[in-house]
Amino acid sequence: MVIYKKEIAKLIGKATNIDVNDLEAFIEIPNNRENGDYAFPCFKLAKTLRKAPQIIAEEIKNKIEIDIKIFEKIEVIGGYINFFVNNETLTQEVLQEIDKEKENYGAEGNKNKNIIVEYSSPNIAKEFHIGHLRTTVIGAAFYNIYKFLGYHTIGINHLGDYGTQFGKMIEGYKRWGEEYNLEQNPIEELTKMYVRINDLCKKDETVLEQCRENFKKLEDGDEYCVNLWNKFKELSLKEFYKTYDLLGIKFDALTGEAFYQDKTQEVIDILEKNGKLVESQGAKIVDLEDKGMPPCIICKSNGSSIYATRDLAAIIYRARTYDFDKCIYIVAYEQNLHFKQIFEVAKYLDLDKKYTDGLIHIAYGMTRMPNGRMSTREGNVIKVNDLLNEAIQRVLDIINEKNPEMEDKEENAKKIGIGAVIYNNLCTTLIKDQIFDWDTVLNFNGETGPYIQYIYVRTKSVLEKAGYIPEYKEIDIRKLQDEASIKVIKILYQFNQILNQVLEKRETSILARYLIELAQNYSNFYNENKIIGENKEIQDARIYLTYAVGNVLKIGAGLLGIKMPNKM
Ligand code: ARG
Repeated sequence: MVIYKKEIAKLIGKATNIDVNDLEAFIEIPNNRENGDYAFPCFKLAKTLRKAPQIIAEEIKNKIEIDIKIFEKIEVIGGYINFFVNNETLTQEVLQEIDKEKENYGAEGNKNKNIIVEYSSPNIAKEFHIGHLRTTVIGAAFYNIYKFLGYHTIGINHLGDYGTQFGKMIEGYKRWGEEYNLEQNPIEELTKMYVRINDLCKKDETVLEQCRENFKKLEDGDEYCVNLWNKFKELSLKEFYKTYDLLGIKFDALTGEAFYQDKTQEVIDILEKNGKLVESQGAKIVDLEDKGMPPCIICKSNGSSIYATRDLAAIIYRARTYDFDKCIYIVAYEQNLHFKQIFEVAKYLDLDKKYTDGLIHIAYGMTRMPNGRMSTREGNVIKVNDLLNEAIQRVLDIINEKNPEMEDKEENAKKIGIGAVIYNNLCTTLIKDQIFDWDTVLNFNGETGPYIQYIYVRTKSVLEKAGYIPEYKEIDIRKLQDEASIKVIKILYQFNQILNQVLEKRETSILARYLIELAQNYSNFYNENKIIGENKEIQDARIYLTYAVGNVLKIGAGLLGIKMPNKM
């Protein structure tokens, strides 16, 4: 496809002798399309050229020779040179590309980079909470988009399966294991057991000592302790996979914290060798005062490693195993400091700069229910599985009320309910806290997952009603030059750039909003234009555009993790 920004950069580069590569980033898309499709601001050049931007713009414009097939015209307005694309060429470019690429439309990207996306990472024997839902859904979206654009992508679930709490859990199980129905309700029961043993530890130092002993044994590979730990892990994973299956989530690696246990000594050794470890109250720490941060504890006074040490070991392991260009952590902003610390300490691990430069933390905000925060600490937890099932049930209720005869209604309710929850997690600026409110999430006419699905289903039913999709070659693109059609085509054109922007700006909301814009503009096109029953040429062209929109809605929603229902 013609990349208009590149074409403009070339033209301006030729007229000014400025390096083309420096120009592209300056090109803007005017808010008001009456000012063209692209605009080049000349304000930046004013200083070096010592002329008014308006005059520079005129001079550049006069030197530019446009290819009328690419740009219809250029105009100077204020200090801007405005470019108007040739809509017929644009239409042809877009539809031809969709015809050629089909479900891979928009996929051109970077083929030779290794990208790790680490996401979800819930804690064994603890509830999978709404924060974990968010990292899971956000991580999957980044994973999908990187992969779609051709990156070699590795999805890792860094399970919280290690730590002193397992010493306690083992102690609890030793004492009262039979009292708890772990098979049926593992996480709930383990949590109860954990609360109970914790209480006991507070009252009785000797119990706490026994817990520590258990953890030590676990670290040393004691069979009883390891078996129990494995059992807790398996039971928890079985629960987590109920959620992952509902959401359609997969991972390439389930390497949790425990995986790095035997790899933490190397971290300690390297830091020691580099003179970065200091003793502090019996513990070993890396001082980060000059970086304006509290110290990073590497080794506790009893010698055991901690969360941060395992993260550092993971960085070394991932660098060696995956040779990553980027290692992206999708973790709530509550852990901002943790990641700042370990990214800093990672610089002392003798790793190639490529790796330490590639460490990225994408932080996201908290989700609250209208009645307050949902966290384990405040005991106000909403289980993600319950939430997802409630979403499905609510949609099913709506279907039963409005369209009880719908075929596959259970399957559709699942796609709509889950899609709604996923969309809601991705559509706002990630760092912002958000309120989870059913009326907003499930509003079929709002800026929601269901709205995108609804418009997609509409494209499907248009195609069904027509009974055919014409060949691209047979389309007369001149029949798609009305305002509503062109608007849709311009949006379709942007798809690949939108995907790249999601990665650049680290914001899934860019794609989420894009899909709404596409859906809304198709809806507008649909309302303005009769599709079936016009003369054959117009009908064919409009059907083809309908097909193109459905295709892009489906690809885009799929990248967010949203599946399309067949009816709505
Ligand atoms: N298990 C942690 C939690 O639930 C998140 C782990 C984040 N990833 C990491 N590499 N530290 O809070």
